[in-house]
Amino acid sequence: MKILMLYGTKSNVTKDIARMIVSDLDAAVTLHNLKRSLPHKIEAFDLIVIGSPIYMGYMIKSVRKFVLRNLSSLLNKPVALFIVGADKQLDMDKYLSMSLPEDLISHLWLKMHLGGEFRHDKHQILRRIIIKQVSEENAKSQSGAVNIDKEAVHQFSHHIKKEMLGDKRV
Ligand SMILES: Cc1cc2nc3c(=O)[nH]c(=O)nc-3n(C[C@H](O)[C@H](O)[C@H](O)COP(=O)(O)O)c2cc1C
Repeated sequence: MKILMLYGTKSNVTKDIARMIVSDLDAAVTLHNLKRSLPHKIEAFDLIVIGSPIYMGYMIKSVRKFVLRNLSSLLNKPVALFIVGADKQLDMDKYLSMSLPEDLISHLWLKMHLGGEFRHDKHQILRRIIIKQVSEENAKSQSGAVNIDKEAVHQFSHHIKKEMLGDKRV
């Protein structure tokens, strides 16, 4: 099984999550930061995994652009998607519908939110405003740091291992 993992990132949180998944999978995975390089032949892969952070309600541009340009190929493969965002009660379907074509959303084999992190100092300043903007409830309940959801990351890998790699041990 050949796996292609594509992601976009601004402050490397999504990249770190992509690497955590790769290390969990223990399989042949080709990794691309879509801002730096584009994969040549996605037809050659058996599973496509796409990772994107959310900025102001939208998936990152490099991912949206890639999806639109490669939609017909993606619709011919199993596609797993993970999103990275600071909104703990993130409404994934709402976010997806703002960024992806409807036919890809219904085609997704797996979709999960894997947490998020504010890494830059200037982002820390923005943090409260952004969290308040994305979710009023969240702003009230959230006093601590927003983190990568390691348990969700391992669950995401687990699904792939069990259902795609046929790993009976997981
Ligand atoms: C300007 C800005 C806007 C953001 N907008 C959202 C948002 O709408 N929803 C959300 O859940 N998280 C939002 N976040 C949080 C990011 O998704 C989070 O910091 C993520 O971990 C960034 O991932 P990256 O380092 O891979 O780019 C925002 C962060 C910044 C700095």
